[in-house]
Amino acid sequence: MDITRLCDRTWGALLEERQGKPSQWLGSTGVAAHELYLPLARRTGRPMVIAQVGQSLDGRVATVDGDARDLSGQDGFDHLHRIRALVDAVVVGVGCVLADDPRLTVRNVRGPNPVRVAIDPNGRIPLGLKLLNGQAETIIVQAEDTAPRDDVETITLPRNAAGQLEPADILAALTARGFANILIEGGATTIEHFLCQGLLDRLHVCISPIIVGSGLPGLSLPPIKVLSQALRPRVTTYNLGSDILFDCDFRADAAHDLRSEPASGIAAE
Ligand SMILES: NC(=O)c1ccc[n+]([C@@H]2O[C@H](COP(=O)([O-])OP(=O)(O)OC[C@H]3O[C@@H](n4cnc5c(N)ncnc54)[C@H](OP(=O)(O)O)[C@@H]3O)[C@@H](O)[C@H]2O)c1
Repeated sequence: MDITRLCDRTWGALLEERQGKPSQWLGSTGVAAHELYLPLARRTGRPMVIAQVGQSLDGRVATVDGDARDLSGQDGFDHLHRIRALVDAVVVGVGCVLADDPRLTVRNVRGPNPVRVAIDPNGRIPLGLKLLNGQAETIIVQAEDTAPRDDVETITLPRNAAGQLEPADILAALTARGFANILIEGGATTIEHFLCQGLLDRLHVCISPIIVGSGLPGLSLPPIKVLSQALRPRVTTYNLGSDILFDCDFRADAAHDLRSEPASGIAAE
């Protein structure tokens, strides 16, 4: 499907939908953007968790040195900013924060900034990074055995037996704060934690037509023996223009629902 022609009126209607104002216009357009973005704009009373990863034709998400800035094309970046504008919170891992010093604000399109959430169990985020610049609200999620910080709102959670934070605990803490729709923006390690636990409703894989050749790989999950154990979400593809988007819906088909099929070959590490 082609969404290169997402017009300003449709986008405005999606932003209104996000604010709880149902739009007759959206239902009447029949445009692909409606199918792609409406589930993110709507608040249904059930949290919606979406992850997005931008990768190259050869499945890289960054160079060997961790440079991911221009990996997606312009339309891929616009798409990412649209998702940010439609969700309540955007979550990244500390690896992404240290490598990219991201702002995580909405700049390429009209719309509100989400609350920025960084998972930093060991308190590695230093002072002075853009996340702490006050442009939007920020929350840092730490392990409860880490020294508390006083420069930013902090959520503290217990570690599990593996020394990690349970992704379900992170989501529970965020939904308890009233965040309904949540974007897990990366990096791959952070997305993997949520995917392994069957906590993603959707995964957007945005493919940019470049070959990096070497570098950080996309998603890696525990090995499976045969392809019949592979995850097979319902997928809709969209032509964004510069990039091709694979919109993977893990909720669409109960047969592929990780929550109801914990033995599907994916297990927590
Ligand atoms: N192409 C893209 O779409 C994209 C998007 C974002 C980032 N990137 C690139 O990806 C790279 C960073 O990604 P990454 O995979 O190395 O790191 P990451 O996912 O950003 O961060 C991983 C770290 O976050 C913490 N963490 C995340 N989930 C956790 C959990 N459930 N429990 C405990 N700790 C958790 C851990 O910190 P500790 O190590 O302190 O335990 C973990 O090592 C950068 O080069 C960045 O440029 C690419």
